Amino acid sequence: MPSRRTFLAGLGGLVAAGAVGGTVFAFTRTPVAALAPWAAPGTADDPRVRALEWAVLAPNPHNRQPWLVALENDDSALIYCDLDRRLPMTDPFDRQITIGLGCFAELFALAAGADGFAVTVTPFPEGEPANDWRLDERPVARLTLARSGVAADPLFAAVPDRRSNKEPYDPARPVPAAALQPVAAAAKQSDFAFTVDPERTAVLRDLAQRAWDIEAITPRTHQESVDLMRIGKSEIEANPDGIDLGGAMLETLNMVGVLTRETLADPESEAFAQGKTMYRELFDTTQGFIWQSTPGNSRAEQLVAGRDWLRINLALTLAGISVQPLSQPLQEYPEMAALYREAHETLGADGTVQMLARIGYGPDVPPSPRWPARAKLM
Ligand SMILES: Cc1cc2nc3c(=O)[nH]c(=O)nc-3n(C[C@H](O)[C@H](O)[C@H](O)COP(=O)(O)O)c2cc1C
Repeated sequence: MPSRRTFLAGLGGLVAAGAVGGTVFAFTRTPVAALAPWAAPGTADDPRVRALEWAVLAPNPHNRQPWLVALENDDSALIYCDLDRRLPMTDPFDRQITIGLGCFAELFALAAGADGFAVTVTPFPEGEPANDWRLDERPVARLTLARSGVAADPLFAAVPDRRSNKEPYDPARPVPAAALQPVAAAAKQSDFAFTVDPERTAVLRDLAQRAWDIEAITPRTHQESVDLMRIGKSEIEANPDGIDLGGAMLETLNMVGVLTRETLADPESEAFAQGKTMYRELFDTTQGFIWQSTPGNSRAEQLVAGRDWLRINLALTLAGISVQPLSQPLQEYPEMAALYREAHETLGADGTVQMLARIGYGPDVPPSPRWPARAKLM
């Protein structure tokens, strides 16, 4: 997802300063409703809905928010995948989507835990779809609540500040290995690994960059992202998901025809070239990488990877370290096959690498849009 800041720097020069809207326009461009779910979650009467209000804030691929929830009996809820919210081009077997649903389940459990309820997560209670096929209409997990006196997990406090930070990181501020110890401890059911070694980081930057290039020049995978771009406040408010390109400058560039879905899709356009330059800066300022793997690649393991990814993301937040997943080398479509193998060899992980991400110290960024909990209740 593009970093607004760098887009502004690059594309801003294309538009005469006078064409950019005034201060009043700028102050009205924040999408209020799309960010409302972050404001005061956890106020509903039913504890399951309270937990759901938090869970919708979970990270998930391309911010598709593929979750649907059905309340069941008095004490449980079923999570389903909204099958229309998958990413068939870049995630042909729904692996990343399942990870996102795991993030959601873990955040639900953390929120319920802080509210006095222990949650039992039962993966795929009606059976597990094969991992080389796609998810189906069966539930992804059952969440069962029971009153408990257990204290809240300290990770829960980081939820309002958790981000996927898609900005350049401070090039003068390496991440100390010791700062990652509590992050490693946060992963309970999957293998966590990292490097902050400059040479190894350079190798992985190069790998991530090449994978990004493949996704960008493969028309159907690039188009999948372009189709999910929400440009400007009214598009973001109408669909608070996908790749949000907000703010007065981007809206103005959109109005003058420089930044549109068409220009972003066109590899010959200035907008496309700027997107590439922007990503190069993200790679160049990366201070290290983290990755997470599971012994196999079953659906239950993908779900577990998501549960742990949420915990890793929260532990990084508490440590003040920024993170951005870079999933391209882990994607399972034919054009990426060679880099998928190279990534697994280079990372030396046993089993399946489920998440790969850059880390460093980035600027503060706002939360990303969300559909409210009520839109996700079946
Ligand atoms: C399985 C998974 C894969 C992701 N892959 C990428 C990625 O390749 N590039 C990226 O910038 N963000 C990636 N993200 C982060 C999402 O874009 C992000 O979670 C989503 O936009 C919501 O934003 P938030 O995490 O700041 O709330 C990924 C997240 C998950 C859970």
